Amino acid sequence: MKQRVLSGMRPTGALHLGHYHGALKNWVRLQDDYECFYFVADWHALTTHYEERSVIEKSVYDMVIDWIAAGLDPDRCTIFIQSRLPEHAELFTLLAMGTPLGWLERVPSYKDQIENLKDRDLATYGFLGYPLLQAADILIYKAAFVPVGEDQASHVELTREVARRFNHLYGRSPEFDAIATSALAKLSKDDARTLEKQRKAFGETGAAQALARGDAIIRQAAAAITGWTSGESELLTGYLRGSGKTILTEPEALHTEVTKLPGLDGRKMSKSYGNTIAMREEPAEVERKIRRMPTDPQRVRRTDKGDPERCPVWQFHLIYSDAPTQAWARAGCTSAGIGCLECKQPVIDAVLREQKPWRERAEPYLSNPKKVHWIVEVGTESARVVARETMRDVRGAMGLIY
Ligand code: TRP
Ligand code: SF4
Repeated sequence: MKQRVLSGMRPTGALHLGHYHGALKNWVRLQDDYECFYFVADWHALTTHYEERSVIEKSVYDMVIDWIAAGLDPDRCTIFIQSRLPEHAELFTLLAMGTPLGWLERVPSYKDQIENLKDRDLATYGFLGYPLLQAADILIYKAAFVPVGEDQASHVELTREVARRFNHLYGRSPEFDAIATSALAKLSKDDARTLEKQRKAFGETGAAQALARGDAIIRQAAAAITGWTSGESELLTGYLRGSGKTILTEPEALHTEVTKLPGLDGRKMSKSYGNTIAMREEPAEVERKIRRMPTDPQRVRRTDKGDPERCPVWQFHLIYSDAPTQAWARAGCTSAGIGCLECKQPVIDAVLREQKPWRERAEPYLSNPKKVHWIVEVGTESARVVARETMRDVRGAMGLIY
């Protein structure tokens, strides 16, 4: 069985080449090896864009079309919208009860973003809580892995702490002890007594020998007692270790190799800098934008020699050009053998080549939006099955079933 990967993206505008190379390309690859859940994080977008709901509204399905254009295959991954699953909000609320305020205040992105996004008022309850909402997104699907960039690694770390704390607080519910006791009752008196002794010994000394002895008893019971279930084995294994039941699974951050494509001006590609090329940008516009890209500022005239290290176009060559083309550009630049427009042409061609299948894959969804609505509909319902099951366990563990 494949392990589950979960990731989300905020719907705050058309996706651009930076999103593709920095994240989406990796999402596409992960489909081969994992059971992938990808969702539109519209509530997350509201934590910063609560005054601009129209952007979000417009971007939701456009973003899903960009995903499919890039190669996400709705038959192989589950695509859904966060706000269609109120279970995320329920888990967020329940986790909030026991999460220390300091854990959220200490998330590095919190103070950074408040400083950096000066044009927004982020002194809100929602913005402080957003990493916890992210924890709920991840934990509700018991995801094993979360592909995230450097900036989000601390959120996965927080998620792990939250899961650990939850299991510690609620994994040993009275209900759990009652079920464990009933499993214990199926053992012979001797075995039950020995298992209890090993449990105590392990709790007091952490001795591996006690675990081994206890496990042996459980294995014997599984083989010898008719009607014994694997669930009962798991239960007693947890009981023996004193760890209780693992209700929420700690995820791991999946750091895969990603490519950093800068924006047209060499800074990070970002809509707020106006230096992007959209994934489905018109070809003529792609050409115009690249032709107008700044180059080595010290190469003023055609006859001046340049240095690719000072030129944002070179960063594009590093991603888009093969070795011979790169060698040609470098040699031509440093000897003033080629002009900058000449140097840019292979980059223009390569970007257009990359975008062509995206435009083709997007077309049927653009001309018939119902198709993309349906994909999201199906994805949302299969995500709901998993989310509901987790919430049943969580409510049970917290004593919320009356
Ligand atoms: N916080 C992420 C971002 O801003 C998006 C996100 C929300 C996410 N929930 C998630 C990513 C869960 C991974 C897993 O980009
Ligand atoms: Fe940049 Fe190419 Fe011009 Fe050199 S020749 S400055 S690498 S665009």
